[in-house]
Amino acid sequence: MNSKIRSWARGVFGWFDERLPISSMWRSQVSRYPAPKNFNLWYIFGSLALLVLVMQLATGLFLAIHYQPNPHLAYWSVLRGIQQDSHWGWLIRDMHIVGASAFFVLVYLHMYRGIMYGSYKKPRELLWLVGIFIYLALAAEAFLGYLLPWGQMSYWGSAVVTNFVTAVPVIGKPIATWLRGSFVVDLPTLNRFFVFHVFLMPLLLLALVLVHLIALHHVGSNNPDGVEIHDNLNETGWPRDAVPFHPYYTVKDLFAVSIFFVVFFWFVFYNPSGWGFLLDKLNYTPANILHTPADIHPLWFFLPFYAMLRGVPDKLYGIMAFAGSFVLLACLPILDRNPVRSIRYRSVLYKVNILSMAFSFLWLGLIAHGLATEHNMVYGLHVTEVFYMTFLALPFFNRERPIRTRIIWLVAAEALVWLVDVWMYSIHAHSWGLMLQTDWIPALYALLLFGLAILFPALTHDAAKLPERLTAGGILH
Ligand code: HEM
Repeated sequence: MNSKIRSWARGVFGWFDERLPISSMWRSQVSRYPAPKNFNLWYIFGSLALLVLVMQLATGLFLAIHYQPNPHLAYWSVLRGIQQDSHWGWLIRDMHIVGASAFFVLVYLHMYRGIMYGSYKKPRELLWLVGIFIYLALAAEAFLGYLLPWGQMSYWGSAVVTNFVTAVPVIGKPIATWLRGSFVVDLPTLNRFFVFHVFLMPLLLLALVLVHLIALHHVGSNNPDGVEIHDNLNETGWPRDAVPFHPYYTVKDLFAVSIFFVVFFWFVFYNPSGWGFLLDKLNYTPANILHTPADIHPLWFFLPFYAMLRGVPDKLYGIMAFAGSFVLLACLPILDRNPVRSIRYRSVLYKVNILSMAFSFLWLGLIAHGLATEHNMVYGLHVTEVFYMTFLALPFFNRERPIRTRIIWLVAAEALVWLVDVWMYSIHAHSWGLMLQTDWIPALYALLLFGLAILFPALTHDAAKLPERLTAGGILH
């Protein structure tokens, strides 16, 4: 009986396989896909992001069945209809909420891995660029979805962001009105945000992720050593430093999934609002258009960008600083042209700079978590300058610089910081005391980075010897 079922299943599979490239795709993309032998922990976040994408689509589908995109019904359709009255509704909603934050954690780590190991360099520039578009689509998806429960923070958060758009000259106001479908956030806004969140953005995300993976499999994976495995093939044409993705990495990824699920479901079952970080406590109050909350802020994953918008003392320049951070990310392949890919073999000061990039981003988040005081706004401005500087300093590390050039970089960086500050303070006069108290942050950063490069040139030297083959955790064989 068993063998009959097996031969019948083989027949059915064979029928499909003759008409669709199932087994050849499986072989070329999975079981014979050459993956570098030395993938480390940083290489699990892409697969986990893929898993979360699928979970968000599945849970979102069930939520959409019960959700009512109408200001009179939305809040209660979520809080009562989904959370309390539908079978397992609470689980589906909490998975969707925790899933949104998990997605951002994973994508931020995934992007930082790309920065550390130079995965944006030739031939992976397009793969990186598609990644940036994925991030933007993901951000739009999260922003659109946040309005749907129609809680206080949903409503006022959307009002603030759509209002920011009006600062763009000429087209800003029409775009904001078109986005809202009205002059204020209202029924048409909720309807279109629902449609964009449920149809448009998921389709776009799926398409982008597909292109991302096609590009990845076309150029092949980078690795923690930054060594191109396809440069060293054996007699059969298989890279000497590669193992088949399946079963080696499918098993490793499955283990990562099990650890991830423990953390993920701890939040889902015990702490779905994540101390107010995953879902703002104010969102347990229905939207009230007559009562503006004292402190309006986005969820944690947008806080660093919110600090930029709040810190730069002009709405339009704030938007430009926000948009500029994505331009800088997209320009990484142009800014960093050092032939050494992996951070493992880059100089000490380059490592400090890449660490400062992450640190200033986190610091911005912390600042925006605080109230919109003058103090926090000014800090936001100065830490934004540091964040920018960590990108603009990258060309300095492209090659060895003579001492004269190092001094020019130091003077230019200091001049730029002070010029930008004087310019910003001429737009909005914060107290000079506060300015002097906080201006040391970018000025000191420039002084440390380039000053140390002048005093101790060895700190700018990349590794003298680069590995030709993959290593064990950076150790040459
Ligand atoms: C929905 C979001 C995303 C998904 C599902 C996704 C998926 C993946 C997967 C499965 C891989 C291969 C496994 C790995 O290397 O971790 C990968 C590689 C890569 N991804 Fe993403 N990704 C996403 C977002 C992004 C973003 C936002 C960026 C950058 C801005 C990015 C840049 C890259 C790069 C450069 C690689 C190649 C890394 C290497 O080979 O070293 N991805 N992605």
